[in-house]
Amino acid sequence: MSSAAAPWWRSAVIYQVYIRSFADGNGDGVGDIAGLRSRLPYLKSLGVDAIWINPWYKSPMADHGYDVADFREIDPLFGTVAEAERLIEEAHEHGIRVIPDIVPNHTSDQHAWFRAALAAGPGSPERDRYVFRPGRGPDGSEPPNNWVSSFGGPAWTRLPDGDWYLHLFAPEQPDLNWQHPEVRAEFESVLRFWFSRGVDGFRIDVAHGLIKHPELPDLPPRRAPVEGQPARHVDHPHWDRDEVHDIYRGWRKVADEFPGDRCFVAEAWADTPERLAAYVRRDGLHTAFNFDFLMSTWDPKELRTVIDDSLAMLGSVGAPATWVLSNHDVVRHPSRYGRPSPARRWVANDTYRAEGPLDFGLGTRRARAAALLMLALPGGAYVYQGEELGLPEVEDLPESALQDPIWERSGHTQRGRDGCRVPIPWSGRTAPYGFSPDDATAAPWLPQPAHWAEFSAAAQTGDATSMLELYRRALRLRRATPALGDSTLTWLDAPEGVLAFRREPGFVCVVNLSAEPCPLPGHTAVLLSSGPVEGGVLAPDQAAWLAV
Ligand code: GLC
Repeated sequence: MSSAAAPWWRSAVIYQVYIRSFADGNGDGVGDIAGLRSRLPYLKSLGVDAIWINPWYKSPMADHGYDVADFREIDPLFGTVAEAERLIEEAHEHGIRVIPDIVPNHTSDQHAWFRAALAAGPGSPERDRYVFRPGRGPDGSEPPNNWVSSFGGPAWTRLPDGDWYLHLFAPEQPDLNWQHPEVRAEFESVLRFWFSRGVDGFRIDVAHGLIKHPELPDLPPRRAPVEGQPARHVDHPHWDRDEVHDIYRGWRKVADEFPGDRCFVAEAWADTPERLAAYVRRDGLHTAFNFDFLMSTWDPKELRTVIDDSLAMLGSVGAPATWVLSNHDVVRHPSRYGRPSPARRWVANDTYRAEGPLDFGLGTRRARAAALLMLALPGGAYVYQGEELGLPEVEDLPESALQDPIWERSGHTQRGRDGCRVPIPWSGRTAPYGFSPDDATAAPWLPQPAHWAEFSAAAQTGDATSMLELYRRALRLRRATPALGDSTLTWLDAPEGVLAFRREPGFVCVVNLSAEPCPLPGHTAVLLSSGPVEGGVLAPDQAAWLAV
C-alpha cells in the first residue's frame, strides 16, 4: 500500500509516555505535562510519530491514574486541561500525534458516580451504573461469585450496608456496568471532549473487560495450556465477551465525526489471534496491541509463529499489525531476554517474574536485535519510554519504596510492576539524573539506581554504539525506507535458528537467534546492524538490515 494514502496509524511508531516517570517539570519528584513539553524536541529527534500518554486524569492514584475520578480534568500532580491543550498543540507542531489513555472498565471509588452510589444505598438507580449485588450464604457474607481481582484477592468488596461491589482490579477501582445506557453515553461524551481538544486517538485500557456475563456465573476451573497445542478460546464470564464489540462500533462512529485520521488502540487480551482480530475492523477499533509478540521468548520458532499468525489474522480483516516489546506492566525486555528461560505467563495479568540468574550483556544484545526485528516488521510499533536507553528492570527496589497495589494485594508475595516504572535518567552523574530540575523539592517518586549515569540520554548521545543511537538510526532509516512500515513480508530460506525476511522494494532483515555465526545473504549494503558485522557474518543474537 502506498504510504502517501494510508492513514498514519497503519505504520506509526508510537512512544509510550508513562507520565509520572518521564520528566518532572515542577520539582515535586513526579513527572508531569510541563516535563513532557520540555522533552518534545528529544522525541522529535528520536523520530517517533506519536506518543501514548498513560492516564493523566484526576485521580487519587490508587493505581497510578488507572483509577479515574474525573475524565474531564487533569490531575493537579500532572497539570491542567489548559496545559494538556498546549502540549497537544506543541506536539503537533513537532509532527508528533497524541494519544491519551482512556479507562472505561472502571472508575475511581472517588468518582462522583460511585460516591452517589454509596450514598444512595442498595437497590438504588445510582448503584445500577456499577455492579452491585447481595452476597451469598444465609447472611450474605460470602461474595456473589468466585471472581478474583487481577491484583490478587477476591474481586468483590462488601460495604457496611451489606451490598457487594465488583472490582476486577483494586477495590478503589469499581467496575462500571456497561449494560447501562448512561455509562455508554458518558464515555462517548468524554471521547468527544478530548477529540475536540485535538487528540489523535486513544489507547483503551482493559478493552476486553467491559462486558460481564449477565448472570455473573462462577469462573470455571483454570486450565493451563497444553504444551505444543495451539491456543483455544475459552468462554469466560468477564473477559473478551462478544457483546463488547457493540460498544466499539459506537466509539468508531464518534471518532469518525472528527476530521483527520483518529485511531483507537485496544489493550485487549484475547486467547487466540482470531479473537484479537475481532476488535479491529472497519466499524470497530483501528489497532490492538500484540501481546503475543511481547510474551514470546527469544526463540526463532515461537517468534516466527507469532509473526505469521498476527499478520495472517490481522491481514484477513484488513488491519495493520502492531509490535511491542515492553510497557509499564511487564519486566523490561533486556532483563527478560537476559535470563536462560524467562518465566512464561499463561493468563492475562499474571506479571512476569524475574527468575534465574541475569546476563544483562546477553539481554542487551538481544534487545538491540529485537528492536531491529520489530521496526522492520510490517505495521506499527510501540516503544516504551527508556527502552531506547536500554534500561534494565530495577529488581532491587527496597520493599519500603514499592507502590504498585499488587504488592499489598498479593500479601507481599508479588513485588508488582514498579521495577519498569522507575523515573528515567536524562543527564548527570547522580540521581535524579536530570529527571527533576536542579532545585527540586522532592526526590523521584521511585529511587533510581546508583549506576544509572551510563544509561542517561546525554551519556548515550553521540556514542555510536549506544542503544539510543541505534534507535535513532533505525527510526530515521525506517522513515527513509519505502519498504518499511505497512505492507507485507516474504520469508527467506535461512540456516536453522535464523529469521530472514524481505520487504519490497529491496530490503532484507536478518536476525540470528542461533548459537552459531551466520553468513549474511547477498546484499549491496549493510544499512544498519545491532552489533559489528565482520566478514559478512552475523554473530549470534544480532540483527542486520540490508539493502538488496
Ligand atoms: C491495564 C493497565 C494497568 C492497569 C490496569 C487497570 O492493564 O495497563 O497498568 O493497572 O489496566 O486499569
